Amino acid sequence: MPIVPPAHSSSRPRPYRPSLWRAFVTLAICIAVGLSVAWFTNIQNVQSGLTGTDPTLGDGFHHPAMGWNHYNHFLNAVDAPTILAVAKAMAHNGMKAAGYTYVNIDDSWETDHRAPDGSLLVNSAFGGVAGMKQLASQIHALGLKFGIYTSPAARTCDPNVYHVGSEGHVLQDVQSFADWGVDYIKLDYCSATGDPATIARAWHDAIVKVGRPMVLSINVYWAQPWTWAPAAGVNMWRTGPDICEIWTAPQRDNSYRCYDGNSTRGVLDVVENPNVLASAAAVSQGHYSDPDMLEIGNGGLSYTEEQAQFSIWCMLAAPLIAGNDPRQMTGTDDASRFMLQRDLIAIDQDAANIQGKPFRTDQGLEYWVKPLADGSKAVMLLNTDANAQTMRFNWNEIGLPGGATTVRDLWAGTSQVTTNNQFSATVPSHGAIVLRLTAQAHQAWQAPPAGQPVMDVGVSLVGILTERRAR
Ligand code: GLA
Repeated sequence: MPIVPPAHSSSRPRPYRPSLWRAFVTLAICIAVGLSVAWFTNIQNVQSGLTGTDPTLGDGFHHPAMGWNHYNHFLNAVDAPTILAVAKAMAHNGMKAAGYTYVNIDDSWETDHRAPDGSLLVNSAFGGVAGMKQLASQIHALGLKFGIYTSPAARTCDPNVYHVGSEGHVLQDVQSFADWGVDYIKLDYCSATGDPATIARAWHDAIVKVGRPMVLSINVYWAQPWTWAPAAGVNMWRTGPDICEIWTAPQRDNSYRCYDGNSTRGVLDVVENPNVLASAAAVSQGHYSDPDMLEIGNGGLSYTEEQAQFSIWCMLAAPLIAGNDPRQMTGTDDASRFMLQRDLIAIDQDAANIQGKPFRTDQGLEYWVKPLADGSKAVMLLNTDANAQTMRFNWNEIGLPGGATTVRDLWAGTSQVTTNNQFSATVPSHGAIVLRLTAQAHQAWQAPPAGQPVMDVGVSLVGILTERRAR
């Protein structure tokens, strides 16, 4: 039966009801306060690595991770005092100030069995579980963060030692890591069986469940991780086998060995792996492709090759995980000169979160572009030839409007304004030049500082209400 309104309801004038106004104002204030709280919470969460808006960023970060990992330099010969000494060096040698935050222990800290309750044990080089917790808190006290390594397989990847992996213990191990103070997990699939995406999702969900923000970094490059890793809540995925401290492996086959016989790839091999380009479209805020760690400072690369590796990694928006011994960085050495170069780091960490890629390749001469959040373009001229070469390009090739353009050479630290709409320079063998090109007519959109909302709605509403009340 239809509900019939009383006959008088439409025919009589409505009486003035002040309570309606009060309800409206109260509602408006509630909305404003709610939005302000949401905004404030967002800022707090961003600062602590959490966001309330994107659950896949809940355990992650908003820029390519920066830090250090022991593996490339130390392999298995590492212990808690060495890690702490490295962390202390990072806190004072300019690395922390430049953004290198994570101090990551790789494969080495584990034992060959678990405790009777199934929990993870820590070997004596790290002082057992108590020693690991102490190390984490010492690293935190330095203003740095703490990363650890494990595998979703029964064993980790090192073929020389028997270390337990996390198979069958995902939630238990993530809880242990949270209890120890871990901020970053490198998950090395090794011989793990099962669907790689399902495994990653389980780790992501476990991180969310234990409630401690942790970066999730995976190594399962053979399973095309770029096609599923962002949706699985992964923050970074390796694109290829282990890098080693050479420019390119002789004959580009498995005949070259460095370290423990596990690595066969030089810097150029890593970059020319088709997986790197295939990954580009999957990169977005909090989700990055990882060509592996830096080899700068390890002695195997020349001066120009080290400069080129840093240039390439920054153009890729790659995680910047140093693989050297930071205790040797004094501020004036080459590793400091390259890895602490702020203009290059800004390209890597740019708020647009775009992975750069080649726009032209010509007989070993590679021309790369990376669009930046302020409308500028970063361009890298990479010479992989055995001799110095002149490299040139014009603005049309990278979609930059013609006219007065500021050209900043980031390694030289020089800027010039040009109206030629083109650039040319001689690039040394195995070297790279990186430019930042800004069209002067372009009204650059200024990206908000990291993690901050584009429009501060909560503050705006509070401002409007406060202004009205004052009238
Ligand atoms: C694999 C990884 C390396 C390193 C070693 C440790 O090879 O790719 O980065 O973690 O395992 O065993």
